[in-house]
Amino acid sequence: MRQIIIAGNWKMHKTQTESLEFLQGFLSHLEDTPEERETVLCVPFTCLNFMSKNLHGSRVKLGAQNIHWADQGAFTGEISGEMLKEFGINYVIVGHSERRQYFGETDETVNARLLAAQKHGLTPILCVGESKAQRDAGETEAVISAQIEKDLVNVDQNNLVIAYEPIWAIGTGDTCEAAEANRVIGLIRSQLTNKNVTIQYGGSVNPKNVDEIMAQPEIDGALVGGASLDPESFARLVNYQ
Ligand code: G3P
Repeated sequence: MRQIIIAGNWKMHKTQTESLEFLQGFLSHLEDTPEERETVLCVPFTCLNFMSKNLHGSRVKLGAQNIHWADQGAFTGEISGEMLKEFGINYVIVGHSERRQYFGETDETVNARLLAAQKHGLTPILCVGESKAQRDAGETEAVISAQIEKDLVNVDQNNLVIAYEPIWAIGTGDTCEAAEANRVIGLIRSQLTNKNVTIQYGGSVNPKNVDEIMAQPEIDGALVGGASLDPESFARLVNYQ
């Protein structure tokens, strides 16, 4: 059985004060959602300490949004696995397209960060996805396949989550059709040695489209940006039908 995981990626949103407001609303709604669905919040580094204290004892798991490959060193502005572990977090997003696009992440650095996450006992959520230009040029399959191949060198597929996030669907409201997301995720799965890896879809998931997305047989969850910022919306996503 594959684990269903609904994860929020807050990106660069919310101060500590705002995260407290979120939690007060979210935890009350969460009581009505099925417990077997893993619920994760990937928050900014600056909220990790506060969130780990306030989520202690709750079923909500905590994640970071990046990890450096070294344990320490002259890497100004970076955060290591050793540092993250202190907060008792379980997950870390690696290779998000925004990091590949704006911060020079390559498949090689993504691979190094995945290995670092696993070394520290964290479950990485690897993001892959094609751009609009690549999709229009008919390159989707080749792009995704190359990312999976390069990013997963020496990575343990027993401690891994993958998120298929077509770049053109992120933050645009232009959700990938559920059947198409299902098809691409099926292709990703066919490339894995462990067929039970949880593979999420990400890209403009919201309370209106989550039911159709989650009804697809290959899709094991969602990685959610915008709609995870609102407690009621995010609880509704965890509570998909
Ligand atoms: O990692 C989540 C993501 O990139 C999707 O963002 O705002 O389209 O749900 P959004």
